[in-house]
Parts: sequence; structure tokens; C-alpha cells
Amino acid sequence: MSTQQQEPETQEAPKDPDMKGAQSPQDRRLAEKESGAIDEESEKRAELEGETVHIKVFRYDPEVEGKQEPRFDDFHVPFKKGMTVLDAVMYARDEYDSSLTFRHSCRQAVCGSDAFFVNGKQRLGCKTQISDLEQPVRIEPLPHQEVVKDLVVDMSHFYDQMHAVEPYFQDEDTPDVSDLEEQRQSPENREKIKMSSRCIWCGACMSSCNIAAGDNKYLGPAAINKAYKFAMDDRESEEIKEHRLRILEQEHGVWRCQTQFSCTEVCPKDIPLTEHIQELKREAVKKNLKFW
Ligand code: SF4
Ligand code: FES
Repeated sequence: MSTQQQEPETQEAPKDPDMKGAQSPQDRRLAEKESGAIDEESEKRAELEGETVHIKVFRYDPEVEGKQEPRFDDFHVPFKKGMTVLDAVMYARDEYDSSLTFRHSCRQAVCGSDAFFVNGKQRLGCKTQISDLEQPVRIEPLPHQEVVKDLVVDMSHFYDQMHAVEPYFQDEDTPDVSDLEEQRQSPENREKIKMSSRCIWCGACMSSCNIAAGDNKYLGPAAINKAYKFAMDDRESEEIKEHRLRILEQEHGVWRCQTQFSCTEVCPKDIPLTEHIQELKREAVKKNLKFW
């Protein structure tokens, strides 16, 4: 196995640590729509009709002699309206080289299995339009993970970190609820954890995080977001919330985050990860405040 060494593209981070002036991905998209950038994109798409798209795909296979040295293969794929990065690599695999290996399943941004490093940024293959990208389109496996083959990386460390925050509901001591009663959640509380519950475990955020790259024990943005979802859920007791905060405030937990915003920038589900991490930091401080 080899570890891919390239650094993710440096993403510009808002300089406001309190994030009062930070623009959410949703806001940015709306602003793009209003400024007419979206129309320009459709024009670009129309221009590509009938042409071929040049993709450069990372290749590596530890089990085949001659493929153990990482390299890029060039493919020229006929463009079709609406073609995504995933469509392009699937075409390359089906028509040119059946050994080209990558993960995918739902093709609608739900399963999280096709996160790649495309033109220097973590993106979901099935959600990324080819026509929005500079050519040649460079498609690589997620950085900072061990490459198993071609675009497939070993996700076991990511899953270990996700499981480390106990990502399941713990309701033993839920107050005021009898055994036979369903556990209700207020609409306000649902709204609060709504975004955090959108995570599809794609690993893009973890791969974009410089801190995670340098500290293998750091829980990472996805796991912390998962913990946020439960810690902020009113249906768990205060005791369990404290237990969760204890996990999060450990040496390799929330305090390792340096608010670089790279995770928030790449999350395909627009989850405000950095904001959630900062909120958990505040909760951890509040928990430890002593009053005399
Ligand atoms: S938080 Fe976003 S980027 Fe990170 S694993 Fe979940 S969906 Fe993917
Ligand atoms: S194929 Fe499922 S998220 Fe892209």
C-alpha cells in the first residue's frame, strides 16, 4: 500500500473566529444565482455538447507488477449534458479500462462512497458537474488516506474515529418519559440538529483537514459533528451529554480544531462543521465552569 502525499488545496478561511461575518455555503450559492454565475455555467455546459472531456485519473495497483508506481492515465470521454465526474470515470472504466477502480453506489449524493480529490478539492463525484471544471479534469483519491487501489482509499481510520464518539442514541435516563411513551422532540430542537444529521460519512471533511493530517488521533470534523448531533438532542439526558462532552474535550478532541474552515468548505451536504465544533468548545467550557 502507498500513502498519497499531496496536500489539499489551500482553502481561504474567513478571518473572523466568531464567524459573525462568515458566509454559509447556502448563502454563497444564492449569491451566485443572483449574480448570474449559474447562467454562465449553463452556457458553458451547452458549449461542451458533442465534445470530449479530458480526464486524468490517478492509477495505482499494489498487486500488479508495472502498476505499483503511482501514475495518471488520460481518458477522453464524450461529453453528455449533465455529465458528472462519476459519469466520466464510469465511462472510462466501461469503455476503455475495466481495471479502473473506484467506489460508488447511489449516484445521488446519498451514500457518500464516491468522494474524490478533483482538481485539487474534495468533492463527491456524482454531485460534481464536469462542465463546472477546468480541463483536464484531474481525479485523485482522497488525500491523507492510504490508497488501496486507484481511487479507492482505506476508510477504516475514518470509521474508527466516527465510532469513537458513540454515534448512537443513549436514552436510558431520558427524563419524564415512561416505557410506553414515544420520545418526542420539539420542532426547535429538530431544527437545531437538522444540519448535523445530514452527514453521509463521505470523509471529504476529514481528508481536507490539516490538523487531522498531522494528528492521527484527532477525532476530526465528521466525528465531532456526529457527536454534536447527539449532544444537542434534548432526548438524551444531561448525564449522557456530559459523557459526550468528556469524550470531545479530550486532548485530541474539539480543542485541536484551529477553525481553518476547510471541512466546512468541502462538505457536500453544507453542514456548518466549524460552527458546530466551536459550539461544542463553548459547551465544554460551560461544563467545566466552577462557581463558588
Ligand atoms: S460532515 Fe460532510 S464532508 Fe464530513 S463526512 Fe459528513 S457529509 Fe462528508
Ligand atoms: S455515488 Fe453515492 S454519494 Fe455519490
